[in-house]
Amino acid sequence: MTYTPSESRYNTMSYNRCGNSGLKLPAISLGLWHNWGDKDNFEKGRMMLRKAFDLGITHFDLANNYGPPYGAAERNFGKILKLDFSNHRDELIISSKAGWDMWPGPYGNYGSRKYLIASLDQSLERMGLDYVDIFYHHRPDPATPLEETMGALDHIVKSSKALYVGISQYNAEDTTQAAKILREMGTPLLIHQPRYNMFDRWIEPDLLKVLAKEGVGSIVFSPLAQGLLTDRYLKGLPADSRAVKDGRFLNPKHITDNKLNVIRQLNTIAKSRNQTLAQMATAWVLRMPEVTSALIGASNVGQIEEIVEALNNTSFAGEELEAIDRVLMK
Ligand SMILES: NC(=O)c1ccc[n+]([C@@H]2O[C@H](COP(=O)([O-])OP(=O)(O)OC[C@H]3O[C@@H](n4cnc5c(N)ncnc54)[C@H](OP(=O)(O)O)[C@@H]3O)[C@@H](O)[C@H]2O)c1
Repeated sequence: MTYTPSESRYNTMSYNRCGNSGLKLPAISLGLWHNWGDKDNFEKGRMMLRKAFDLGITHFDLANNYGPPYGAAERNFGKILKLDFSNHRDELIISSKAGWDMWPGPYGNYGSRKYLIASLDQSLERMGLDYVDIFYHHRPDPATPLEETMGALDHIVKSSKALYVGISQYNAEDTTQAAKILREMGTPLLIHQPRYNMFDRWIEPDLLKVLAKEGVGSIVFSPLAQGLLTDRYLKGLPADSRAVKDGRFLNPKHITDNKLNVIRQLNTIAKSRNQTLAQMATAWVLRMPEVTSALIGASNVGQIEEIVEALNNTSFAGEELEAIDRVLMK
């Protein structure tokens, strides 16, 4: 069926400025790490992208190796773009990344100029695009000089294959260095993509300060800790959940009694705010001014609708934050 985007799509989403740049990102963005592979239901993925866009989610995040198999999410996304979004390219922020294992041999991994430029060319072909809006180095590479990796990002922007560049999983010190090198080359570092959620707060002591100082935005991935910070696992292990169905990055071993006890208590705090835990976990990452966008994943349309409603209540009373901290410290 032909897709006509909702006319009210820009009425409720908030859009936050990304660092000191001119670009605004939706407070909630959608990632295609899981559920857009070749074994996943194509029409279901298509409906999720339609729903997201209808709700004002203008940013879709991909990477060369999302699938499985590697490349499949970009290929499937490219098909959906062509079917449903061909008249809306200028309303979308599409990102991709390279940095993890992609193809065999010494040129399909880490951070060399050779790998990043070849990988982006492949990503563009799979998605049927001339350019991505944001291209990331997906993880730090201790063996390649930062100048080379940042030089590749600079080249990519100057050759019009990406409008902006970002880094992911870099620590505070390497982020400072990367921002400096890119600035000197005339290509500002737009954004950092770190993991951030109630169970993983590593960015709080140093990285956020660096981002504020350098004027770099951030889009935080796995704000729901891959589904743990929801009510998904409170009544057992659903057969269609990531932990059971996939098991590669989240598996039943991670869901201990201790963890469930913490999740139950967080769920009670969420209820006292008239939110679901998924909504409170999303609002919680967005409370930090350095966080431009919460980068969620979803396996059905209802989850996206639920998360977007988190924006109805993103403020926290001091006592609520303290209560959350107390639960997390147990
Ligand atoms: N830069 C990096 O290194 C990196 C690494 C990881 C991810 N990412 C990016 O971040 C994106 C998001 O990561 P993520 O998928 O781990 O994020 P997440 O939002 O923490 O987890 C998403 C999962 O949570 C569950 N969920 C979502 N909404 C729910 C709701 N309302 N109620 C109950 N369960 C709900 C779903 O799991 P079920 O399948 O169980 O329903 C969904 O697949 C990725 O797609 C990718 O773009 C980047």
